[in-house]
Amino acid sequence: MGIVVLTMKASVIEMFLVLLATGIHSNKDVTKKIKRPKFTVPQINCDVKAGKIINPEFVVKCPAGCQDPKYHVYGTDIYASYSSVCGAAIHSGVLDNSGGKILVRKVAGQSGYKGSYSNGVQSLSLPRWRESFIVSEGKPQKGVTYPSALTYSSSKSPAAKTDEATKAYQKPPVPETTAQPVTLTQVTGATATGAAHASLPKPSPSAGSTSSSLRPQPVGLRSGELDLWATSTYTSGQNSPRADPGIQSWDSPRAAFQKPAGAQVSPGEMDLWKPGSVLLDAGFVPKEELSTQALEPLSQGDPNCKIDLAFVIDGSSSIGKRRFRIQKQFLADVAQALDIGPAGPLMGIVQYGDNPSAQFNLRTHMNSRDLRTAIEKITQRGGLSNAGRAISFVTKNFFSKANGNRGSAPNVAVVIVDGWPTDKVEEASRFARESGINIFFITIEGATENEKQYVVEPNFSHKAVCRTNGFYSLNVQSWFSLHKTVQALVKRVCDTDRLACSKTCLNSADIGFVIDGSSSVGTGNFRTVLQFVANLSKEFEISDIDTRIGAVQYTYEQRLEFGFDDYNTKSDILNAIKRVGYWSGGTSTGAAINYALEQLFKKSKPNKRKLMILITDGRSYDDVRIPAMVAHHKGVITYAIGVAWAAQDELEVIATHPAKDHSFFVDEFDNLYKFVPKVIQNICTEFNSQPRN
Ligand SMILES: *[C@@H]1O[C@H](CO)[C@@H](O)[C@H](O)[C@H]1NC(C)=O
Ligand SMILES: *[C@@H]1O[C@H](CO)[C@@H](O)[C@H](O)[C@H]1NC(C)=O
Repeated sequence: MGIVVLTMKASVIEMFLVLLATGIHSNKDVTKKIKRPKFTVPQINCDVKAGKIINPEFVVKCPAGCQDPKYHVYGTDIYASYSSVCGAAIHSGVLDNSGGKILVRKVAGQSGYKGSYSNGVQSLSLPRWRESFIVSEGKPQKGVTYPSALTYSSSKSPAAKTDEATKAYQKPPVPETTAQPVTLTQVTGATATGAAHASLPKPSPSAGSTSSSLRPQPVGLRSGELDLWATSTYTSGQNSPRADPGIQSWDSPRAAFQKPAGAQVSPGEMDLWKPGSVLLDAGFVPKEELSTQALEPLSQGDPNCKIDLAFVIDGSSSIGKRRFRIQKQFLADVAQALDIGPAGPLMGIVQYGDNPSAQFNLRTHMNSRDLRTAIEKITQRGGLSNAGRAISFVTKNFFSKANGNRGSAPNVAVVIVDGWPTDKVEEASRFARESGINIFFITIEGATENEKQYVVEPNFSHKAVCRTNGFYSLNVQSWFSLHKTVQALVKRVCDTDRLACSKTCLNSADIGFVIDGSSSVGTGNFRTVLQFVANLSKEFEISDIDTRIGAVQYTYEQRLEFGFDDYNTKSDILNAIKRVGYWSGGTSTGAAINYALEQLFKKSKPNKRKLMILITDGRSYDDVRIPAMVAHHKGVITYAIGVAWAAQDELEVIATHPAKDHSFFVDEFDNLYKFVPKVIQNICTEFNSQPRN
């Protein structure tokens, strides 16, 4: 108690010093304030971190709606000042989501802030921070004066730069006097907020363990690298066998979850359909633990299932209220089983009738719990079952960046149809596939033999799905047995290696350029050729798991300029192309093809399309027929681009059949640029005309 009082006194004095130093208030004002406890309470936004505020003790007003996982909180009871002030207040139970006044007091920095789940907020662990704070109810204490305007550390000060977290961590504590105090009555936290997203300290992966929570590694988060923090504190409601019943269960990292002792995993016994019973609890969770379900912490999502998922649900009048409710329950079960979160699957819902509309997009609800709540509120649209129109909508609108499409996760659309669609799906689905969307179709109570005459496209499911191999279609006899498909569906949509339609013409090739560097080309034209190579490369999605690019230059001799493994970003590739030096010499195109097969394509990955793009300006000195045949035989799709003196008959021999789609002749180097779109178009047309099964 004595210490607390002392600290408070010290704080008050310190605060006076700050006020004096800023010169905003005269001594007299301050004295007056002590006599008059009434004062204006400054307001802050949910995202304001305690560290931004210099005052050692203050009363502030939080707005409503700070109970949101995006306002990060570190610690329990004592919070690192890197936390959202209002978020911490909710976590500690001083405030609820409707906002209000709180009293904040700064205390010394600590080691080992422990994350916990409390009052609807999941706080994170943090190994160490330079300053902490405590939150209590917003009742001003007698004899203490509180600032009516807060002093913020300037956003220009070193501590507010983008790498704030990292720096503050590695350096010794920054004395607060180094921050330039500025008094603001309003929050100008825009830069600070941006900084926070760019440089969150990585939460310790193990909330409960002191040794590992001291791991000093305040690295910035990279997408896809999120630790599944605090898994050990999760309730077993998060555990779900991701496999079809009886085939496989408890695969990693779920195996790391603690299965309650004595709990039996016997999927046959799950009563998935009992009202109020959450699918995944059945069988694993001892009865007495079910009460903790309400406190289920927010998950970062299952990292083994990173997909962007559109559920396209049937809201047509024919379904009826009861079946529509079954559909919603199914959605909720799937949302639960998927373990939605920013580092795992995200899910949005489109409902269609005559027309489609988005119920919510990928980033509206980023955890299973909120999603389930939102699903409960969906109301039926009515109308026809225009699934084709809905699929077009999903392709054009739903998977936009603005709607939360991450780009780094496969796009999956699960289309539910009651009976059969009332419009055509073929065209819309082809467009969706070509855009890289993996369409699954769940047909419920499909047409009987007698009904088939009414169906617009009798084979609609075949025409719609990503591949016709059965993996993408589920036929369900009755709405009342729909729940049995939850696990099977979840297993399939999460099998990202098998999601064949996310492979597009732009993201799934190993492309080897074979560039003629002979003397006839000349330095200037050689630069133009390199520009052409760069312009083609720019069109592709480049990374080690998407399209990769390599290049060979040849004269009489050949040299590997760079291989598929050498660079894996677009800018590195473009720089590497720029750096290719003109060689000058003869023209042995046949030998160059052999060399490219050996030096480039031998290192291509089995699941990649192999494309060779050969650019030459003259007839080869050696035979091209046999090397070209070998290339074709090895599955290397070869494009031949000839400029100026190139021989058209030779280009056609080099090119993959049909030659008219794979060979191009350009009269002069200055016209090469016109062929960029044409070459890309042919590559994509060929890709999209592959058989789908
Ligand atoms: C539907 O199409 C698939 C392949 O496209 C074919 O194998 C199947 O026989 C067709 N079914 C009907 C009922 O036409
Ligand atoms: C490459 O693209 C640039 C910029 O669009 C353009 O100016 C240039 O003409 C193109 N060159 C070739 C050879 O494609």
